[in-house]
Amino acid sequence: MDFLELSKMRYSSRGYLPDAVEEGTLQYILECGRMAPSAANLQPWHIIVVTDRAVLAALHETYPREWFRGAPLVLVICGDHQVSWKRGDGKDHCDIDAAIITDHITLAAAEKGLGSCWICNFDAAACSSIFKLPPHIEPMILLPIGYPADSADNPRHRSRKAAGEILRRDKF
Ligand SMILES: Cc1cc2nc3c(=O)[nH]c(=O)nc-3n(C[C@H](O)[C@H](O)[C@H](O)COP(=O)(O)O)c2cc1C
Repeated sequence: MDFLELSKMRYSSRGYLPDAVEEGTLQYILECGRMAPSAANLQPWHIIVVTDRAVLAALHETYPREWFRGAPLVLVICGDHQVSWKRGDGKDHCDIDAAIITDHITLAAAEKGLGSCWICNFDAAACSSIFKLPPHIEPMILLPIGYPADSADNPRHRSRKAAGEILRRDKF
């Protein structure tokens, strides 16, 4: 499978089988994440791997969608604002770095036949409380992972802007 095929295969799965993700597969996708680049190679991230039923239930309260309840595994991808690189004008690159590691993980999961879905529309303050996160550690993405119980037929997945709408050459 080449990279374009993998990119097209990944989609936001919003339904999961209860089957656990094998530990070796989990370690593989986490390792793919660990290899992600980051600004100044500061790697300003922490990933909380959640499989405990009680913690999963608490996380569901931060994003109470029925489809999210069934995920057997959720990664809480956190950014560390004390570590992340800031440009001279103050721009914090923490969000960008967290996005890159998350993208590596979603693609690695897809390669292994696993579904995943970015969740950013969750109650971040409630999530911080669950894990007693210090203020500089921001929970940025909840990433449920599991064997999909749905398919890639969601029209949002297939819909992408045409290349001509997003690409420019030599000028904006
Ligand atoms: C930064 C980001 C935040 C997202 N947040 C959510 C979310 O809170 N809930 C959700 O169901 N999907 C969320 N998504 C998934 C997008 O809706 C999805 O990627 C987009 O519709 C394209 O569909 P596809 O992933 O199936 O290709 C998010 C995706 C990204 C990249």
